[in-house]
Amino acid sequence: MTNESVATGHDHDAEIDHPVFAAVYDLLPQSLFPRVHREYLARDLAGRVLEIGTGNGAMFPYVVEAASDGLEYHAIEPDPNMRPRAKRQARASGLAVDLRDARAESLPYPDDAFDVVLSGMVFCTVQDPDAALAEVARVLKPDGEFRFLEHVGADGWRRAGQELLNPLWERAGGGCQLNRDTVDRFASHDSFALEEIERLEFGIFPVTPFVRGTLRRRRERPV
Ligand SMILES: C[S@@+](CC[C@H](N)C(=O)[O-])C[C@H]1O[C@@H](n2cnc3c(N)ncnc32)[C@H](O)[C@@H]1O
Repeated sequence: MTNESVATGHDHDAEIDHPVFAAVYDLLPQSLFPRVHREYLARDLAGRVLEIGTGNGAMFPYVVEAASDGLEYHAIEPDPNMRPRAKRQARASGLAVDLRDARAESLPYPDDAFDVVLSGMVFCTVQDPDAALAEVARVLKPDGEFRFLEHVGADGWRRAGQELLNPLWERAGGGCQLNRDTVDRFASHDSFALEEIERLEFGIFPVTPFVRGTLRRRRERPV
């Protein structure tokens, strides 16, 4: 464990290997993640695009639908139970994907490599969200976009319920945390300008609310 993982109680180096979660994720009705929000992530994609934590490739059909010519699509996914599913989905969707076994906290790409980075329900699960966001900033080109759809910690009684359920939930949900303050993390990061962010009251307790939005990488990197 690193010092930070001791502080948070999470082991950032732990193996990511969740066969049951991967099988269950395949069976979840897609209506849980409304089409309009996946379309938001995939809108007008062009150039070099990276999807982090691609899971079973649920985004791929939307990417194919929205993509323009010359799109170069890359994806990372650390769970060996998810990657074969993503490969099958890529074949079924007719999407050419360079899919790699990697974690968002340590992306295997050079600086300034991508026009757009996408994240759909991944910052709830990454073991070190601050390191992952720093990596997104590093691999994005100046003015590049980080688009996200994430479920986040709620307020009031719902937050209290999330805190209670979280220890069980993270075991069942492949490490998913119900109570992350992802909005603050994203909005306050000095590598990004906040283009838009919207709180969405969909989802079923305890996986609610969601936020979706776009950050734009600043031209100058913070010193
Ligand atoms: C809830 S699923 C979301 C899958 C997909 N993005 C979607 O839109 O349906 C979360 C995914 O994040 C992956 N993940 C877990 N830890 C990660 C990490 N450190 N870096 C990148 N992805 C990670 C999980 O293996 C899982 O596939």
